[in-house]
Amino acid sequence: MSAKLNVNIDHVATIREARKTIEPSIITAAVICEQAGANGITVHLRGDRRHIQDRDIELLRDVVTTYLNVEMAATIEMTLIALDTRPDAVSLVPESPNEITTEGGLNVAENFVGIQSVTAQLKNAGIFVSHFIDPTLVQIEAAADSGAQQVELCTAEYAELTLASRAAHGEGAEKAKAELDRLARAAKYASELGLIVAAGHGLTYRNVGALAAIPEITEFNIGHNIISRAVFTGLYRAVEEMIALIR
Ligand code: PXP
Repeated sequence: MSAKLNVNIDHVATIREARKTIEPSIITAAVICEQAGANGITVHLRGDRRHIQDRDIELLRDVVTTYLNVEMAATIEMTLIALDTRPDAVSLVPESPNEITTEGGLNVAENFVGIQSVTAQLKNAGIFVSHFIDPTLVQIEAAADSGAQQVELCTAEYAELTLASRAAHGEGAEKAKAELDRLARAAKYASELGLIVAAGHGLTYRNVGALAAIPEITEFNIGHNIISRAVFTGLYRAVEEMIALIR
């Protein structure tokens, strides 16, 4: 079975928030992604509300018919929103105020008690819980021990190493291969521990193929690169093309 694709539509909201207006519609974006074959819609409700707003989550909950995955920090504020709006899944991610995007995975091992508590509250409400972590054995074990049902392996390092010119030859290609092997080992270990394995962050039309060949990875969350391509091709086609590469 090929892996699923959840399209992260945060950056549709980024364009909207640039003018604090109503276009482009996040709802239209979600419907087009679903019609093009996406298995789910992912959004990140950030503490600073720089793109997705609380109301978007409420509207998406009513409109999304596939699978709604909300990325959020493990805070009381976010937990209450999730318990209120009931997405299908919550992905717990780290967050710091001045970052451009999520920087690395959640340190579950060091913040075990708090993350375990939020995970339990969400699971008790029937929400599927994923932890976005770096591909290390320590974090995988901590995620499993704290009750996560899924881990999403952070592919930021792999993405960085596969940026066009860097991975073209020699040392760059070797480093990218080593990171790919690390992700494959992590995926296998997480799967052996009974966790479902997803991957995401910085993935592109150029670098997703090698990851899609790792059998344990059953879900991808991809945003920026799809929305970037959609500017030129339209969203429907951009989603179709990413699905074709994953499958
Ligand atoms: N997965 C997680 C946990 C994320 O935080 C993000 C970014 O919001 C993504 C996937 C998608 O990353 P990108 O936009 O680089 O595809």
